[in-house]
Amino acid sequence: MNQYHYPNLQVVVLAAGQGKRMRSTMPKVLHDVLGKSMLSHVLAGIEALCPQGIALVTGHGGEQVYAAVEKAYHVSSITQAEQLGTGHAVQQAEAVCASADNVLIVCADTPLLQAATLASLLERHAQLDADISFLSAKVDKPTGYGRVCRNQQGSVESIVEERDASDAERLLNEVSSGIFCVKQKLLFQLLKQIDNNNQQSEYYLPSIVPLALQQGAKVEAVVMTDANEMLGVNDRTQLRHVTELLQQRVIEDWEKEGVSIEQPNTVRIDVSVKIGMDTVIRAGSQLLGNTAVGDGCKVGPYAVIKQSWVDDYVKIHAFSHLEQAHVGAHADIGPYARLRPQAELDEGVKIGNFVEIKKSVIGQNSKVNHLSYIGDTTMGQDCNVGAGTITCNYDGANKHKTVIGDRAFIGSDTKLIAPVTVGDGATIGAGSVITKVVQKDGLTLSARPEQRYVKDWKRPEKS
Ligand code: UD1
Ligand code: MG
Repeated sequence: MNQYHYPNLQVVVLAAGQGKRMRSTMPKVLHDVLGKSMLSHVLAGIEALCPQGIALVTGHGGEQVYAAVEKAYHVSSITQAEQLGTGHAVQQAEAVCASADNVLIVCADTPLLQAATLASLLERHAQLDADISFLSAKVDKPTGYGRVCRNQQGSVESIVEERDASDAERLLNEVSSGIFCVKQKLLFQLLKQIDNNNQQSEYYLPSIVPLALQQGAKVEAVVMTDANEMLGVNDRTQLRHVTELLQQRVIEDWEKEGVSIEQPNTVRIDVSVKIGMDTVIRAGSQLLGNTAVGDGCKVGPYAVIKQSWVDDYVKIHAFSHLEQAHVGAHADIGPYARLRPQAELDEGVKIGNFVEIKKSVIGQNSKVNHLSYIGDTTMGQDCNVGAGTITCNYDGANKHKTVIGDRAFIGSDTKLIAPVTVGDGATIGAGSVITKVVQKDGLTLSARPEQRYVKDWKRPEKS
């Protein structure tokens, strides 16, 4: 992301609203858009401006909102105890703005907003020596937004909220993004003069526009080139819509980097995911959180990879589920494999269908191909683990470790009752229950039930 430098700018982010239209117990701005909250998306764009400070105005769920972002972003928290409107919200930030020349006000519910667009607003504001500048957009469906009213000369006169607009005003298709840059001193003078004589009885920030014009100040609307960037999220349908638009942006960016994505409408790729060249992501797959997938991999269909690291030339077959796992180069996983946290797979490992691996290291070229559970285990290289092998790691109170050397061959349906060690090159006979050290090389097997033959036995017949 480009970095900018605005040392005399204070940013105020509005995030105090409850977001009633979301119908949620979680504050609206914490809702997720491809692995990051709406608020985090907005703050990431703002941080790239390198302003003197970012003040976050919170109210509903304020502590939760601030706690969610304070570690990742340099923000100060300001409380708006009662939500009396966007103008009232900005007023709460007067003290932190005192030393700034300009104040940039951004709503926290516009997650598609990009730093470059904010920078273009700030640039125009400086170029035109405007007192108030705001981003507007021409849209097909203006419903829900404040309409920009201009006079016959085309100059901005006011912004009218939908609920206060006349039928004629509602037809206007230029809308306000809610993003303003205002000279600091003027801003707080004007905010003291606004009233709440409107349908919602709120102190609206856009009310500063006509007041400023009456006092001879210069107001400019900067029309955005991409109207999608200002989409505000007020309900679940709008949340889905911005998520789809952002997903399209993310997918097209990866396509430019040489990644193939089949049936993209069925795929989810979070914004923080990294993908290498010539990798193919098949239908229905989800790459979530801080996942990285290397070059030349094949993922899916219907694979889920969360917070995991996958090296080059790995195949993750259908319906496999990975979480906090590391998969070495040329490994082959699934179909229907489950890699749980701290599964560490070395190069060339093969994990087949219905195999679960948890908190275990699997050495180079080792294979666990069918129906097994391997937990709390360290396995060497070139091992072959037969179908249905279980590391019995839990005694009901504590977890115990299994250590397997190199080139071990573990027969099908073996139970390794941990803690237990298996030596290099050991072979374990099928169906064994292992409770003691398995020596290296040779064959180890536990007693098997006697096999009997009942010659005259007859199969039951249906009565
Ligand atoms: C607002 C603008 C509208 C603009 C639209 C763009 C006003 C009055 N309306 O409408 O002109 O077209 O955004 O998306 O400014 N908030 C507070 N404290 C409050 C009220 C709101 O912090 O007392 C915060 C909310 O958390 C939200 C933001 O301000 O992040 C905007 O509030 P919201 O209720 O979403 O306003 P809109 O109806 O979308
Ligand atoms: Mg809104």
